[in-house]
Amino acid sequence: MKTGERANFGSKIGIVLASAGSAVGLGNIWRFPCETGENGGAAFLLVYLLCVLMLGVPIMIAEFLIGRHSHANTALAYKILSPGTPWRWVGRMGVLAGFLILSYYAVVAGWTLDYTVQAVANRFNVMAASDSTGQVFTEYFARFVADPWWPVAYLALFLLMTHLVIVKGVEKGIERSSKILMPVLFLILVVLVFCSLSMPGAAAGMEFLLKPDFSKVDSQVVLSAMGQAFFSMSLGMGCLCTYASYFRSDANLAKTALSVGLIDTCVAVMAGLIIFPAVFSVASLTPEAGPSLVFIALPNIFQAAFGGVPVLAYLFSVMFYVLLVLASLTSTISLHEVVTAYLSETYHLSRAKAARLVTAGCLVLGCLCSLSMGVFKEYTVFGMNFFDLFDYVTAKLMLPLGGMLIAFFAGWVLDRRIVWGEVTNEGSIRFRGFQLFIFILKFVAPMGIGLVFLNELGLFRWL
Ligand code: TRP
Repeated sequence: MKTGERANFGSKIGIVLASAGSAVGLGNIWRFPCETGENGGAAFLLVYLLCVLMLGVPIMIAEFLIGRHSHANTALAYKILSPGTPWRWVGRMGVLAGFLILSYYAVVAGWTLDYTVQAVANRFNVMAASDSTGQVFTEYFARFVADPWWPVAYLALFLLMTHLVIVKGVEKGIERSSKILMPVLFLILVVLVFCSLSMPGAAAGMEFLLKPDFSKVDSQVVLSAMGQAFFSMSLGMGCLCTYASYFRSDANLAKTALSVGLIDTCVAVMAGLIIFPAVFSVASLTPEAGPSLVFIALPNIFQAAFGGVPVLAYLFSVMFYVLLVLASLTSTISLHEVVTAYLSETYHLSRAKAARLVTAGCLVLGCLCSLSMGVFKEYTVFGMNFFDLFDYVTAKLMLPLGGMLIAFFAGWVLDRRIVWGEVTNEGSIRFRGFQLFIFILKFVAPMGIGLVFLNELGLFRWL
């Protein structure tokens, strides 16, 4: 794919929705509640919101402008903008991060496929009828993820679905499907928020999510919130940078970044409003349950909320899991695209061949992650199984580090006229707060992220 052959997104709303399609996914509905639960609730949410505003949105604009100006995949972008310097390693690290994230993300996406199948077969209703405490859902999940076959089969199926879209070329597919799926997803979320808030544990759930206890904030919490902000907004590894290379020249980068940030944050908060009331309504569940939280709380909430009207319980479970699959798919596509575009452009492979390599590689690593929940449980690195290790290394190390370097690059290295030209479309639109934007890129983002790292490593204590 050469620059001249690059396809463009068709419309401005398509650009927003495709980027939002990448951003909105398991990160919002699975990882956000899980991180919030493990890090004490409301205080985490506040730090998270601060990270989105102060770091997320400015860095997203930086990724957009790097991508659109260079019209190239993320590794090539740095080569074009800063030839002969080590900056191309930022792009390469991003590609590696994308590969690793896709490997374990597809495992969880595979779980959502199984849950869709169970919902369609109406098994959740049967399970709920057999046990009113909800314990049955905990047991089902624990048994399912430790199984050596099914999760791996679903992982392969999910990677295959992603692969097929990528091979066909994505612009029309992603853009068109995002336009339909994102509004539907939003509508269903609104309905579920209302259902969840009417459950018996609603008050305790709301308190957990909205009443901050600042004594809980330490460097771990800040690092987790920062990592979650990057993960959820698809930042720090050149994913949105790659998408931006397909943007038209009249797209308003700042406005797009703000809209995507807003949509992404709304979906995450709504997922929290759905899950925590449900968690506090299930006797056997606590917010610290980790990755299993969503998969145990959600099937339960549908049955509890609509237990009296089984048809509704059935319809909502099916719809929710189908949408979760599709939301994950738009995200895995964006991750796959980063690696595929890099391989095919750098090593002059056909798109199909590059995509096959990515899919095969992810399948191998994904199997490792999946099996680390069951048969490979004993194999740990730094006390973590492979799945947790991949999550930690990418979300808590590579993404913040990538974000820091991207901000530094746009703030210090890139010619200011290029930055100004991109955010104002060569002076044709206004960009209020340009000085503040530059200040954040130059100082706030690199120093803020750097301090959190130093603190984590124990080199500098302030929390
Ligand atoms: N942001 C997506 C989610 O919330 C996942 C994702 C897609 C991602 N592309 C990414 C995460 C790039 C980090 C970097 O589910």
